[in-house]
Amino acid sequence: MACSFLTTLLILCAVGSLRAQPFFAGERAKAEPECNALLYQVAARVDKLEKDAAEAAKAPVSFAAALVATQEWTHLGPFNTDTTLVFKNVITNVGNGYDSNTGIFTAPVRGLYFIVFNGNVGKSGSLNAAVIKNGINMFAIYDTQGTFSSATNGMPLVLEEGDKLWVTLWANQSIFDQSRLSTFSGFLLKSM
Ligand SMILES: *[C@@H]1O[C@H](CO)[C@@H](O)[C@H](O)[C@H]1NC(C)=O
Repeated sequence: MACSFLTTLLILCAVGSLRAQPFFAGERAKAEPECNALLYQVAARVDKLEKDAAEAAKAPVSFAAALVATQEWTHLGPFNTDTTLVFKNVITNVGNGYDSNTGIFTAPVRGLYFIVFNGNVGKSGSLNAAVIKNGINMFAIYDTQGTFSSATNGMPLVLEEGDKLWVTLWANQSIFDQSRLSTFSGFLLKSM
């Protein structure tokens, strides 16, 4: 598409120059700067299209991590302060947005993401935890059906490049994991 447009323009410029020839030299001199200006515009458009196409061809950003890497039954909390959960067992990390040292997902590009958090109630018998964006509560789960029951929440979020997401376990709450029961995950639906 871009190529054929460029080709058409080149032909038009060439025809314009030819047509200018029978007239005095000044006509041609006038036509050339206009053609050059158009060519610059077209080159810029082609450049942008190529960049957009390269961006679209990239593997989509996605991440998934479970709370613990071990097969052992593992309880975290209750703690007496709000605590960032660090999901240690990375299963998917296309685009390297998720950091398993901090528990933070940093959006590599601006776009619409779908984010999901699932948690199993730990030994306090009460699980209340939230997905936080740059310090602001986006959505949460709450469950008191006894230890080992699970709750899930998820939603699409518009993230700016560099926005940070993590999961906070509120004070006095607890979470449990054993091999991918409690997970934090998300993927880019569309860059914007
Ligand atoms: C956590 O539990 C302690 C002891 O029961 C209580 O004093 C404190 O207010 C609780 N904190 C929250 C945030 O619920």
